[in-house]
Amino acid sequence: MSIHISAKPGEIAKTVLLAGDPLRAKFIAEKYLQDIKLVSSTRNVYFFTGSYKDKELTVGASGMGCPSIGIYSYELYTEYEVDCIIRIGTCGAYTDKLKLFDLINVDTACSESTYAECAYGYKKDRFKHRGDAFDIINATAAELDLELITGTIHSGDVFYRAEKGKPAIVKKYKCLAAEMEAFALFANARYLKKSAATLLTVSDIISTHQKISAEERETALLPMMSLALETVVRM
Ligand code: HPA
Repeated sequence: MSIHISAKPGEIAKTVLLAGDPLRAKFIAEKYLQDIKLVSSTRNVYFFTGSYKDKELTVGASGMGCPSIGIYSYELYTEYEVDCIIRIGTCGAYTDKLKLFDLINVDTACSESTYAECAYGYKKDRFKHRGDAFDIINATAAELDLELITGTIHSGDVFYRAEKGKPAIVKKYKCLAAEMEAFALFANARYLKKSAATLLTVSDIISTHQKISAEERETALLPMMSLALETVVRM
């Protein structure tokens, strides 16, 4: 048991899919996995271990923001010997070249966050994905005929901000989209020499306020879920 995860040693697989929302983790486990076992529900943050096409994996949740995913991913890597974490989440597009439902495989996450400096003394404002999950995601998407965009995204610390327009770091690195977690996940993976990738579905276009509707949300994330699961099978 770790402080925030109550699974017993050996109950978490080497590869973990991390959604932001615990109910999304539950949905994935119930829809796609066989022989599922709820291995942790501390704070109602669910972790299920099961198998997909005979490959053992765990699906869990990170909560929102760098501090939250920082805790869960750190404990998974250090207390449960997890090798690879693939975050699956949503993002807001900064550019109208992206469309709702587009899929992004994050190459680099940048942030104004102090997370990496406070945790590890890293004086960097961007981190790359780590390990081979990123390449396996790209190859799997090609095999499944799924269109995938790769690039730099912004892991912001705030969802609501007074200032209109793009934050300076977004202009500096020409970020495609905004989310709030990949930066801390990639910083942890770097420090701990583990693998990490992030797959995102565009759920809103920031400049036009276009959004995936509540009904569309039911199906919008299915291609990303399938891609993540098929990637795990190929790892
Ligand atoms: N900003 C930050 N995180 C997000 C967004 C956004 O616009 N959309 C989905 N996750």
